[in-house]
Amino acid sequence: MTFASEYQQSIAQPEVFWRQQAQRIAWFKSPKQILSLDEHGHHRWFADGQLNTAHLALDHHVLEGRGEQIALIYDSPVTKSKAQYTYYQLTEWVARFAGVLVNLGVQMGDRVVIYMPMIPEAVVAMLACARIGAIHSVVFGGFAAKELAARIDDAEPKVIVSASCGVEVDRVIAYKPILDDAIAMSQCPPQHCVVLQRDVAPCALQAPRDLDWQQAIEHAEPADCVSVNALDPLYILYTSGTTGSPKGVVRDHGGHAVAMEYSMQAIYNMQPGQVFWAASDIGWVVGHSYIVYGPLIRGCTTVLYEGKPVRTPDAGAFWRVCAEYGVSALFAAPTAFRAIRKEDPECLLAQDYDLSALQTIYMAGERLDPSTYDWVVKHIQRPVIDHWWQTETGWAIAANPVGIEALPVKAGSVTLPSAGYQVDILSPTGQPIAANEQGIIAIKRPLPPGCLPTLWRNHARFEAGYLSTFSGYYITGDGGYKDADGYLYVLGRTDDIINIAGHRLSTGEMEEVLASHSAVAECAVIGQNSDLKGEEPLGLVLLKDGVDIDHDQLQQELVALVRQNIGAVASFKQVVVLQRLPKTRSGKILRKVLRNMANGEEYSVPATIDDPACLQEIEAAMRQAHVK
Ligand code: COA
Ligand code: AMP
Repeated sequence: MTFASEYQQSIAQPEVFWRQQAQRIAWFKSPKQILSLDEHGHHRWFADGQLNTAHLALDHHVLEGRGEQIALIYDSPVTKSKAQYTYYQLTEWVARFAGVLVNLGVQMGDRVVIYMPMIPEAVVAMLACARIGAIHSVVFGGFAAKELAARIDDAEPKVIVSASCGVEVDRVIAYKPILDDAIAMSQCPPQHCVVLQRDVAPCALQAPRDLDWQQAIEHAEPADCVSVNALDPLYILYTSGTTGSPKGVVRDHGGHAVAMEYSMQAIYNMQPGQVFWAASDIGWVVGHSYIVYGPLIRGCTTVLYEGKPVRTPDAGAFWRVCAEYGVSALFAAPTAFRAIRKEDPECLLAQDYDLSALQTIYMAGERLDPSTYDWVVKHIQRPVIDHWWQTETGWAIAANPVGIEALPVKAGSVTLPSAGYQVDILSPTGQPIAANEQGIIAIKRPLPPGCLPTLWRNHARFEAGYLSTFSGYYITGDGGYKDADGYLYVLGRTDDIINIAGHRLSTGEMEEVLASHSAVAECAVIGQNSDLKGEEPLGLVLLKDGVDIDHDQLQQELVALVRQNIGAVASFKQVVVLQRLPKTRSGKILRKVLRNMANGEEYSVPATIDDPACLQEIEAAMRQAHVK
């Protein structure tokens, strides 16, 4: 079958197409209803199906005779430890931890927040929730207590699962004080915390609230998989919106399982038994979909890597892992390869390793710049597939579907929309526009299985943020164009979200933090181009009248404030003090002009600008501060 005919069918006859795909997974009760409308009039997939995602990812494979195959490889250069778990062992472990949660009163539909580093117990906790129908919400370890507290308040978890510490390249990060602070700030504290004590830095536990993971699991009976409805939520994953309050993207069981199985084959070309490695973090959507659920549902072996592309111990780390475990497909953010190139420009370290199992390298999370693409192709000599997706969709909106048919690659393009995604480029008034013209990238509804059906307890924000702008469309927040062959080019966000080392962060949220400083009257945060991280935030601030503060000291205080409120992952490091900000006559800050200036790009002065004279002054201030 060609991809063109498969895609055509997915759009013209979505129910026929997805019914066939749904037959690939082991439902407890196969769905008869393929596409239906929910109480909000929103499309939902497989409404009357019954299944269990952990069963698909684990028990099913044991029943089918894969029990002795390795399901999970843990490789942790930061702690110098390695471990491997078969499907049978992982199933047993997950069932016992599910028993711990049941003992703590966790029931179907209850939320469990998971705040953990990249350790096998994090995967176990996720799958244990799925096993008993509880909804997990994993929070990335690089977020500060306030961010964690915001997620706790929104998800209202009965239990939080955490670890005593995370381990970065050169330091140990104590998680427990962050967790304690977050709970102290929270309006909805959990009843219990289950904490894994890591040898590197154990922590004090607060009885009776806190339980030791090891002790709890020793006393637990294994819990069985429950049957859940296809539309029940599997997880909530918070992602940055344009304001300080993160958006709780909801993923349901049925559509997600079908999308995972489909994409592992169609996009990643993976067969059961092969080794798949997504070098991301379980705190991000890539980690949910392609460290945990996708590879396991497909019966592959997945790699959980607690390390970095460089410095753990060197820029050969990726090649070492690929060779050691016979990785067939490697998936990482372009930033990771830029970091490797910086330290090993000729990629000499790759020559020390046997990469014969490696078939394809996938990249996503941020724009893949041509020089990084060329460098990887030149040195590793494997197809490099750029594919585009977001937390909301859970799998690739556009990719080269090599599992069906490897399409010709075009530099800078994420190739064609995946099955089920009808992608249109719209004008600001919502009209489809011609090939090669830039516009808003939108997806015609229904979105395919796996995409978000709502935001957690905030359907109004879902409607307002994604659906109501143009009737019949989901707005992706990205801009770009299609060429005459329908190839898609994603050029970047059209909103106040920036992408730092493949991590999605809100400049609006950083502005809220800067504005809370007593010296700051007004501010703007923009993304400036970074050779390593793609983008890095730059803070532009106006001081309150009469405030006299040393600018270096102010920068230090603001950097500390962002670390404390959002986290180190925001990589907020630079502040420039200005006398004025460019605004329209109605008072809107001209962020695009500031962005262009900071990146040394040409910019046009909008006719609506209030005070054109301020632009020269701002450019001079940026030059003086060595911004580009
Ligand atoms: N827990 C606690 N802190 C964390 C963390 C975690 N899980 N992850 C990152 N941090 C901290 C880092 O220690 C760093 O702190 P510092 O400013 O005190 O040094 C800060 O957050 C920024 O981290 P990062 O952006 O990762 O920068 P880095 O200099 O440590 O590493 C790269 C640079 C390029 C090697 C790294 O960003 C990388 O591997 N990028 C790939 C990203 C990726 O896989 N994204 C997933 C999306 S697909
Ligand atoms: P996240 O929700 O964290 O996965 O971030 C999603 C955003 O990352 C998208 O909306 C894009 O802006 C960006 N992104 C992801 N993949 C790509 C890609 N292949 N090319 C360009 N931008 C990408």
